[in-house]
Amino acid sequence: MSTTLGSFIAGGIAACGAVTVTHSFETVKIRLQLQGELQAKRDAPRLYKGVLHGVKVIYTNEGLKGLLRGLSCAYIYQMTLNGCRLGFYDPIRTTLNSLYLTRSPLHGREANIKAYQSLPINIFSGASSGILGAFLGSPFFLVKTRLQSFSPFLPVGTQHQYRNAWDGLRQIYGAEGIKGLWRGVGPAMVRTGFGSSVQLPTYFFAKRLLQRNFNMQDGAPLHLMSSTASGVVVCIFMHPPDTVMSRMYNQTGNLYSGAFDCLYRTVKTEGILAVYKGFFAHLARILPHTILTLSLAEQTNKLMRRFEDRVLSKEVKEKL
Ligand SMILES: *[C@@H]1O[C@H](CO)[C@@H](O)[C@H](O)[C@H]1NC(C)=O
Repeated sequence: MSTTLGSFIAGGIAACGAVTVTHSFETVKIRLQLQGELQAKRDAPRLYKGVLHGVKVIYTNEGLKGLLRGLSCAYIYQMTLNGCRLGFYDPIRTTLNSLYLTRSPLHGREANIKAYQSLPINIFSGASSGILGAFLGSPFFLVKTRLQSFSPFLPVGTQHQYRNAWDGLRQIYGAEGIKGLWRGVGPAMVRTGFGSSVQLPTYFFAKRLLQRNFNMQDGAPLHLMSSTASGVVVCIFMHPPDTVMSRMYNQTGNLYSGAFDCLYRTVKTEGILAVYKGFFAHLARILPHTILTLSLAEQTNKLMRRFEDRVLSKEVKEKL
């Protein structure tokens, strides 16, 4: 086992690796979500026609730099999220476990509190630590979204002129204060809450289904297929609040009075399917992201353990 700090760094490096690979799809997703906002279908421009067309057009006009706009914000957001998952998941879980166990016949067996595994408690702990991360990380996601929608060639959305992440945060804070920095935090929390609560149960469900009906054995192919299935379901649940979030992030309080107003007017002018604009680009980001994070994490954790075994004494390791 690595120390907590070690796992944070190892997990962070793995997640940032996955983010780097999938960031282009995220850029395309945001532009697809914003394209034709509050316009009837026949009037809506179609500058970006889909995932691959989007990647191609951005790469041709803006180069790799265009596809990777906002990458540093994506890293900071990812580290915030991972930090919260690592820091809050277990404390929340053990607190709930002890609350539950003192009321159950298992009462008194103190050692069980850490070891006890309950799917509903685990899901709740995962979702709440994710939502906390989404809250803390929202300003970075906001700046990321605005950097990604900026294009000198085919612009969609308000064109905010931020030189970089830090400049974006400073400008927003200067013009709108704290409120501006946390604009759109509601749908951002809903989005992550949906995603993290659906992920675990659908993963286990898919795994059991594949084992039962297709006789698959435990191993890499089964894990790959179950996480793919779970990724699709996660994306189905997460995408509508994600679209609302992108649109709340694009405006500066001058277009919508709130998330429900955004959802209502989007559906009314563009039809119900508008909440799924950019869905395939989102899927193209989520699927490799999950698989890459898991496989990279295995490597970075191994390296971290080896590194810590070599440089840290036993006493120091226990303190960290
Ligand atoms: C983005 O927000 C602005 C208001 O700040 C609004 O005028 C515009 O329609 C929104 N969407 C797009 C795609 O530009």
